[in-house]
Amino acid sequence: MKFFIDTAVLNEIKKAADYGVLDGVTTNPSLMAKVGIKGREAILKHYKDICELVPGNVSAEVISTDFEGMMKEAHELAAIDPKIVVKVPFIGDGVKAIKALSDEGIRTNCTLIFQPMQAVIAAKAGASYVSPFIGRLDDIATDGMQLIRDLTLIFKNYNFQTEILVASVRHPMHMVEAAKAGAHVATIPFAVIEQLFKHPLTDSGLTKFLADYEASQK
Ligand code: E4P
Repeated sequence: MKFFIDTAVLNEIKKAADYGVLDGVTTNPSLMAKVGIKGREAILKHYKDICELVPGNVSAEVISTDFEGMMKEAHELAAIDPKIVVKVPFIGDGVKAIKALSDEGIRTNCTLIFQPMQAVIAAKAGASYVSPFIGRLDDIATDGMQLIRDLTLIFKNYNFQTEILVASVRHPMHMVEAAKAGAHVATIPFAVIEQLFKHPLTDSGLTKFLADYEASQK
């Protein structure tokens, strides 16, 4: 299972990358806005800075909602660094853009997936990743994880090469369930990464080991 971090905050990306088990980064316009970067040039530079911190790929999302606009932005984003994966929303023009970009060899991540057939359509168009948003489905009293189980089965049935990238992760149990379902990737907020590194029994066990060692040396 690949671990991506879901943030545009450089020091969070650096801390997560320093563990040595980070495979990539996802961003979206809301996460970029949180960092407070204004202006196209500054935004493109920020993506470049992110690329320099991680070994794997970096999803950068288009803002346009029409085919021509998305294609123009996609080329601009893809030119920043070979690590860039162009993130495109699941709308009609988005699917057209995914197909055109895939024909050009530009990798894409189809975002805002809430229903299995959206992911199937994106996969047929040649998306490298599909991003089902499980937390947002849970928020409306729907079982977000069922979407992941359905997608792992469907993608296996048809041998799709598109990777299932679990998005909108809210807590460690989402990670456990996504791994059990066989998702290829999960993108994880920094706070959840920190939770994954904490277990009270690990902490208390280590405290006891060290105390016993100290006592034995007296
Ligand atoms: C990442 O690709 C998604 O944009 C992100 O996980 C959405 O998360 P949220 O539902 O917590 O905003």
